[in-house]
Amino acid sequence: MKPSLLWIVFVCTLCFLFGFFYRFTQIESFSRHYPHEIHEDTQSGSSPAPAPSPEDKELQNLLTMTAWNIAPLPGAFQLSTSHRTSSYTLLHPRPTYTMGETIEVLITVKDHKGRPKTYGGDFFNVKLYSASMKAGVSGSVQDYNNGTYTATFLLVWPGETKISVRLIHSSEAIAILHEKRDSRPDKVYFHGHFQLNGTREVVECNFDLPGRDVCEYYDAGSGEKWVCLRPKNLPCNSYREHSSGGNRDILNNTEKQFLSMSFTDQEIPNNLKPLNVLPTNISRDGRRTKCTSGLPIPDPSGFYYRDLWESLVCSNQHFPDGSSVASCLAGKSVYMFGDSTLRQWWEHIVDFVPSLKQIDLHLEHNPGPLLAVDTEHNYLVQWRAHQKPLRMEKTWIRELHSIASELDNLGGRKDMVIVFNCWAHFLTFPIEIYVRRLRGIRDAVKRLLEHNPKIKILIKSANTGYRFDHGSDWLSIQLDTVMRAMFSDLPVTILDVWQMTSCHREPENLHPPKVIVKNEVDLMLSFICPS
Ligand SMILES: *[C@@H]1O[C@H](CO)[C@@H](O)[C@H](O)[C@H]1NC(C)=O
Ligand SMILES: *[C@@H]1O[C@H](CO)[C@@H](O)[C@H](O)[C@H]1NC(C)=O
Ligand SMILES: *[C@@H]1O[C@H](CO)[C@@H](O)[C@H](O)[C@H]1NC(C)=O
Ligand SMILES: *[C@@H]1O[C@H](CO)[C@@H](O)[C@H](O)[C@H]1NC(C)=O
Repeated sequence: MKPSLLWIVFVCTLCFLFGFFYRFTQIESFSRHYPHEIHEDTQSGSSPAPAPSPEDKELQNLLTMTAWNIAPLPGAFQLSTSHRTSSYTLLHPRPTYTMGETIEVLITVKDHKGRPKTYGGDFFNVKLYSASMKAGVSGSVQDYNNGTYTATFLLVWPGETKISVRLIHSSEAIAILHEKRDSRPDKVYFHGHFQLNGTREVVECNFDLPGRDVCEYYDAGSGEKWVCLRPKNLPCNSYREHSSGGNRDILNNTEKQFLSMSFTDQEIPNNLKPLNVLPTNISRDGRRTKCTSGLPIPDPSGFYYRDLWESLVCSNQHFPDGSSVASCLAGKSVYMFGDSTLRQWWEHIVDFVPSLKQIDLHLEHNPGPLLAVDTEHNYLVQWRAHQKPLRMEKTWIRELHSIASELDNLGGRKDMVIVFNCWAHFLTFPIEIYVRRLRGIRDAVKRLLEHNPKIKILIKSANTGYRFDHGSDWLSIQLDTVMRAMFSDLPVTILDVWQMTSCHREPENLHPPKVIVKNEVDLMLSFICPS
């Protein structure tokens, strides 16, 4: 053997021995931590992460679904997206348009000095509308994350049609909302009213008050934790009433500029001529489908024409008078659980049906329960607020029940209808808190359906118009996406009312005007009494 070859053999042997030794020590040190789990992975020297639980996996999927192009946290205001300098053009313009066709609009965003933006993440509301026909339909937006977006619209009525593109928040404002959602869960707080032997004390309460001396409470239905600062002179079990506390001013003056109302929900100017859409007999498959659970929700999910909502999910009906509503609800027990936007539905039905009378339950407070019965047609409609965190007037702790525990206390009554919603009061908290609440509700829904698969369960989606108290439609759409995904595998109905508020001619409002509420309730009734 040549000396050089010998040298190579020697080096290789050394390498082999060293490699073996190295590997052995790796296994040694690894096995000290995981004595029963030595496998091939140990070769790389990296310890495997423990397998994620199904809950962790679901949460990760949900967070992926709500992923957004989050801009860098803003520096100078002048560099953020401005509705004044941004613009849009109609792609592939044609001399005429026909119902059933889609059109596309290219949105180009610029900063306050008119310089093109190079990243995405802006939040828009886009719609087609016709004031004379009281018509409106939402479009959908695609973000190319380079300062351009396309908005796509379906032409669904004949005649004059205009385009509206509103910048709800700049991507910089979204970055602030996104950051504060997780970093400041204390931005909204609550009061706990303690009382015993004539002594009273009011303290701060929330899901968590880290590092503070607290009393802990656990919900019977879901096991969820709630805490109040420990009262100075009273025991934890003298917690009597809950109320809204207040909002903390968590934004500095720079941040406030990005979220100020003069830069929120602003129309991007344009001088496009209205489109003239020719009529045609478009086939609207949804129009022939009975309104039942589990139907796919297309985008757009419907549109307004003469102020009436025409669903593209199924053949929805319009209930012209009280007696048509009463004959739909006859023989049924309708239980509603949720927030004040669902209470509006209860109020509408009670106002609309003369034979339906509210029973005074002698509650001083507005979280209910509210009960109305129609003895002529033999049905009842009840609403009660979902559990804390409620930003509502003072209410007895004992009158606040979680949706999960309410569902667990309902049996297999004939013709029972459950309608619930859960959204607005969770906006300002990290998404995980919302997911945990919905999980508790979803488990209870499954248990209820095991007892009686015939029960109709309807879930009201979020609506647009939350423009105050740290709120934003962007925070709402994030939660709404989570809710739709979490209930997508169950035989329940999602009542999609998001677009019913986002494309109506009235200004958006967290508590929509009567004309919208009537359409929402009619959609609900269409699913309760499909024709
Ligand atoms: C933005 O991205 C889209 C899609 O990749 C591309 O078609 C377009 O040319 C880009 N625009 C700019 C201004 O970079
Ligand atoms: C409440 O008052 C009663 C009678 O005055 C007394 O016996 C009791 O110890 C008091 N309870 C507390 C918790 O202070
Ligand atoms: C406001 O807060 C941001 C962090 O979001 C920080 O970068 C900025 O310096 C603060 N501005 C002022 C004026 O305090
Ligand atoms: C549309 O349908 C109606 C009734 O079915 C028919 O009378 C009319 O001719 C159709 N119009 C067109 C443009 O096809």
